[in-house]
Amino acid sequence: MSHQSTYNPSTGIEKWLDRRLPFVRLAHDSFVDFPTPKNLNYWWTFGGILAVFLVIQIITGVILAMHYTPHTSMAFASVEHIMRDVNYGWLMRYVHANGASMFFIAVYIHMFRGIYYGSYKEPREMPWILGVIIYLLMMATAFMGYVLPWGQMSYWGATVITSLFSAIPLIGDDITILLWGGFSVDNPTLNRFYSLHYLLPFAIFGVVGLHIWAFHVPGNNNPTGVEIKDVKKDTVPFHPYYTVKDGFAIVLFLILFAVFVFFNPNALGHADNYIEANPLVTPASIVPEWYYLPFYAILRAITFDIGPISAKLGGVIAMFGSILILFVLPWLDTSKVRSMRYRPVARMWFFLFILACIILGYLGGKPAEGSYVLYAQIATAYYFGFFIIILPLLGFMETPKPLPRSIAESVLKNNKPAPADVQPASAE
Ligand code: HEM
Repeated sequence: MSHQSTYNPSTGIEKWLDRRLPFVRLAHDSFVDFPTPKNLNYWWTFGGILAVFLVIQIITGVILAMHYTPHTSMAFASVEHIMRDVNYGWLMRYVHANGASMFFIAVYIHMFRGIYYGSYKEPREMPWILGVIIYLLMMATAFMGYVLPWGQMSYWGATVITSLFSAIPLIGDDITILLWGGFSVDNPTLNRFYSLHYLLPFAIFGVVGLHIWAFHVPGNNNPTGVEIKDVKKDTVPFHPYYTVKDGFAIVLFLILFAVFVFFNPNALGHADNYIEANPLVTPASIVPEWYYLPFYAILRAITFDIGPISAKLGGVIAMFGSILILFVLPWLDTSKVRSMRYRPVARMWFFLFILACIILGYLGGKPAEGSYVLYAQIATAYYFGFFIIILPLLGFMETPKPLPRSIAESVLKNNKPAPADVQPASAE
């Protein structure tokens, strides 16, 4: 959203810089006086929380890399060395490992927020699409990071997931061999995963820059989904209102993070990853990290061939399709109304969608047998049905509730004289 810059360089150096490379002006216009809807609730603080976690992951990751050895004969031991011998190495590792989980909790909340309030709708398709790219990069980064400690789950998780690519017709086997750098997960695999695990967070950093730029063009969406009508009445400057609100939310989230890091640092991990990788011993069950479980359930829900498509390939297509479909979400949702606050019917289907994701997550951690498979198939059908059938049709069928005329009207509508206007008894 373009607005008149209020940046006023005062010293000679500031003026000199402003005429040559006005990045202080850019930062000021974007994060100090940027007109921000005055009604943003706490669901809007997760973008800031995500930015903090990206920085935490990069800093702790760079420090871990100083002590880690990417070789199959030393990787496991080098991680134990970090835990025992390196000063605060245990802290760096637990912050990094649990930080990944917190990052995913925050990103899921951020994405569900986007769906609930229709933040992906015209003219904000670009922040959404860039967001899906970030999400894909996050998934790839976390997957490769998990291989680095070279525990049993690292090794077997990598084997299961990379083998999936072999289901692709014609080129599948070549892709898998390329990923492995050989004929099984081995030292070349560990090396390339390490290299990419170091590289990708910086790519994420760059795409996050574009993401932030992209939502500054139309300005933020807000809980009403109604656009800004009057900058004076509908917005407040980003600073101090949202720097303080975001800061408060970040502190609360960091407290939750600290509970994991200091009191139960292995709660979200798997015990088998404290056993060194052994290609000759398959663990009793191979379970991915919790944030992949819904997709793992979708992968295993396809147990039947569909015409020429084998069950394995079908599962791979469904799993990748469940993420790729997010790219076209802005065009699948046909409703003119953004926020589900005014779409009671859509809201109900949305909550069922969250439930389907949770059920899929639960089933992803269970063996793919008996009724678990059937439930996963039903939840998978709902997952896709929500995007392909429900959202496109609802736009034509539902009657939304009347929208407020403006953000200011929505904020002030409950502003009836408070009972406090009546003198409290003690004041008499
Ligand atoms: C490292 C990951 C990410 C970071 C640091 C990040 C950062 C941010 C920030 C700071 C905002 C503005 C504040 C807010 O709305 O919370 C934002 C908005 C937004 N984000 Fe993200 N984001 C990330 C990932 C994603 C992902 C994965 C998606 C979706 C797939 C996404 C979709 C959006 C959308 C649609 C908006 C516009 C919201 C609005 O204006 O209401 N973001 N993001």
